[in-house]
Amino acid sequence: MTATQWISRVIRPLAIVAGIGPAIWLGLKFLRDDLGANPAEYLEHFTGTAALVILLLSLTITPLRRLSGINTLIRLRKPIGLWSFAYACLHFSCYLVFDQSLDLSEILHDIAKRPYITVGFSAWLLLLSLALTSFAGAIRTLGGKRWNALHRLVYVAAAGGVIHYLWSVKRDVSVPSALGGVLIVLLAARIERRPRKAMPMQGVGVPE
Ligand code: HEM
Repeated sequence: MTATQWISRVIRPLAIVAGIGPAIWLGLKFLRDDLGANPAEYLEHFTGTAALVILLLSLTITPLRRLSGINTLIRLRKPIGLWSFAYACLHFSCYLVFDQSLDLSEILHDIAKRPYITVGFSAWLLLLSLALTSFAGAIRTLGGKRWNALHRLVYVAAAGGVIHYLWSVKRDVSVPSALGGVLIVLLAARIERRPRKAMPMQGVGVPE
């Protein structure tokens, strides 16, 4: 099998299925009553971390594709990105149910008044818009240029996720700082190195 066939026939189906792994692990821990003293907090933290880590994983695809020259790798970006959105939705649901008991006016007040919640909610809205436009029909409707511009917002969503995490922790900022470092490296890897224009050499005959 060629690398392209491996990615299409083995790695992509694996990426589609593997995203359920963390949820199964969490489910088993729940069944074993092993979610610690505060299960609601555990679920909220686990799903938030899963959403952010999987989002960063989806951002490794473009640099990997550039480094390897294997264009089919791009086919992994959508399933990984959608899994990140799925965990972000679970995380948001934990907040809605456990923290706010589905009280709509409390939720709206909290989103407006607490900056780290505002940032998390904005990141979730961005992920929602990317998920809704991740299908072939949306690319046709928006046109390639606009679709690409919209999907570059994934970096804004990831930065929002990191800031939201940094803002939510009270003492030890080592994990969110490390994830922020990973995001900076991934952003730097995205910057295209354009070949410099050849400068005509002065005083030397430049061939036409
Ligand atoms: C819908 C909007 C969101 C709300 C209302 C929300 C709310 C929360 C809350 C209440 C916490 C717990 C803070 C604490 O215990 O003090 C939290 C933590 C966290 N959230 Fe969000 N969040 C949202 C969106 C997101 C998104 C989109 C991401 C990732 C892309 C994310 C990633 C995280 C992470 C990584 C943590 C920290 C987990 C930990 O401490 O282990 N959140 N969020």
